[in-house]
Amino acid sequence: MNAILAVLTSTLSLLPDKPKGGFWLPEQASAAAPGVDRLFFFIFWLSLFFFALIVILMLVFVVRYRRREGVEPEPSPSHNTALEVIWTGIPLLLVMVIFVWGFKVFLDMSVAPANSYEVQVTGQKWKWLFTYPNGHVDENLHVPLDQPVRLVMTSEDVIHSFYVPAFRIKRDVVPGRYSKVWFRATKVGEYQVFCAEYCGTGHSDMLAQVVVHEPGGFERWMDEVGNMFKTMTPVQVGERLYRLRGCAQCHTIDGKASVGPTFQGVFGHEQALKGGGSALIDENYVRESILEPQAKIAAGFEPVMPTFKGKLSDREISAIIEYLKTLGALAAGEKKP
Ligand code: CUA
Repeated sequence: MNAILAVLTSTLSLLPDKPKGGFWLPEQASAAAPGVDRLFFFIFWLSLFFFALIVILMLVFVVRYRRREGVEPEPSPSHNTALEVIWTGIPLLLVMVIFVWGFKVFLDMSVAPANSYEVQVTGQKWKWLFTYPNGHVDENLHVPLDQPVRLVMTSEDVIHSFYVPAFRIKRDVVPGRYSKVWFRATKVGEYQVFCAEYCGTGHSDMLAQVVVHEPGGFERWMDEVGNMFKTMTPVQVGERLYRLRGCAQCHTIDGKASVGPTFQGVFGHEQALKGGGSALIDENYVRESILEPQAKIAAGFEPVMPTFKGKLSDREISAIIEYLKTLGALAAGEKKP
């Protein structure tokens, strides 16, 4: 009895338009999601119906027309026009329904409304960056409720894929070109962003959140983060930029070397360079390393850092330098308060 109930519940959860995620599909949180799911379930149940029909008929025929003692098989009819028209016509009709329906859903999802709010998305190993019309860059995608949002996406390095299951959108993000996708969030909340294209060691950590704000909340949030220098000290801004702009992906602050050297305790110290010699890590060294990373490579590391020329303002670079100084003041092993 319990087993039957369990099967029934899981079958019921296959039905579309459930508010929370079901057995097969995650929560529906965008305007496109219900339409995608309806089509998915139509194809799913249709396939299941024909699978069952074919298997059952096959078993019936196997039993009914099995070879028996003393029964001679009748000669097979060579042709049955009516039967052939039916078994060609019905599948043709069904695939045409799937095509027209699918094409309509695809078009709706491809063409963003003219009044869409535009956000630039950059994929890089291994994080997402979202740039807003006012220049603010964030590691999460904040959007207003019920407003079409158009994403213009590109990659700094390899192919990534922007994927939000709850919105039913997924689009490749390719270096050297722009790909676009749009959605209209229909529910306040936080939704997971994945990278859906294997892009190296940190692929499965290439995560972000879509934060859907209640009416008015998005404007408040934008106001708060848009004026970082008004509300924060340069050190706080530097710390924030360190996390938001991808420094943290390669430079730790706990003294351990990663892809690049750690930031802990480096400011004011003499750095051995690749190919011999050394340099004092001061304001100018940090600035040069951000703008022209290949100019001086720390010994023991590869020249893999991209330039931040044009991506960080002078003011932001100064803030990062101030932040580095606070790390330099810590003794090895000490934790940042
Ligand atoms: Cu980026 Cu996987």
